[in-house]
Amino acid sequence: MPVLEARNVSKYYQMGAVTVRALDDVSLEVARGEFVAVMGPSGSGKSTLLHLLGGLDEPTSGSIVLAGSELSHQSDNQVTLTRRRKVGFIFQFYNLLPTLTAEENVALPLLIDGQHLAPHRQRIHGLLDMVGLADRGGHRPDQMSGGQQQRVAIARAFVNEPEIVLADEPTGNLDSRSGAAILQLLRRSSQEMQQTIVMVTHDPRAASYADRVIFLKDGQVVQSLPIVYRSGHGEDMARILAVMQQLEL
Ligand SMILES: Nc1ncnc2c1ncn2[C@@H]1O[C@H](COP(=O)(O)OP(=O)(O)OP(=O)(O)O)[C@@H](O)[C@H]1O
Ligand SMILES: [Mg+2]
Repeated sequence: MPVLEARNVSKYYQMGAVTVRALDDVSLEVARGEFVAVMGPSGSGKSTLLHLLGGLDEPTSGSIVLAGSELSHQSDNQVTLTRRRKVGFIFQFYNLLPTLTAEENVALPLLIDGQHLAPHRQRIHGLLDMVGLADRGGHRPDQMSGGQQQRVAIARAFVNEPEIVLADEPTGNLDSRSGAAILQLLRRSSQEMQQTIVMVTHDPRAASYADRVIFLKDGQVVQSLPIVYRSGHGEDMARILAVMQQLEL
């Protein structure tokens, strides 16, 4: 069974008399250790898909398999536990707690899970170091730049050593150099740690780090493109851009 799967998933929002089809019969399988990029225009359903895959929200119809088990067969408590222990989220708008320091924000998933921090301190430091914020552990979000806050959110997503990382525009606010470092990190975590990554991005260069790119349009998967991964990513980027043009994305 795939680690992550959407089977004929639709998500509709009722807005008065209008039904918004955020996702329309989407099916997708992601294998363990696979790195998938999701691209598509604003409003095409990318964040909705990520939230449903991570059990943060329920589909209107269809089913989701998360960490190898179907969510509709689980109680809310079981879904919450699966999410806490097996999934790392990087949200589009970071979702850092404003009153906590960078270090505390990174530790938050462990605190919520009722774990003691002492045995994890070194790893928390290691994660902050990994995203280039070793000297910012004591800073609150309002004392950091947008890109720094984004990197705290990335470190937080890895703190529970998740099987699955769901990342919504993780490099959206980063310069090309820190963006490249984060993309290498995601790629390494899938290749070396067999972590499964789904990353939403608007950037063809970012998408070229993945194993496969899924294109969404109007809530539907319209194309799936395997990435060859050559050094420099030039060829892969060109192929991604060609698909975007062809699909008018
Ligand atoms: N809670 C909600 N209530 C009503 N409509 C919603 C809600 N959340 C999302 N939508 C609608 O569903 C569609 C998909 O939204 P979604 O946030 O998934 O898009 P996206 O691809 O992530 O866009 P972006 O690139 O701008 O982040 C949009 O038309 C949006 O307006
Ligand atoms: Mg979004």
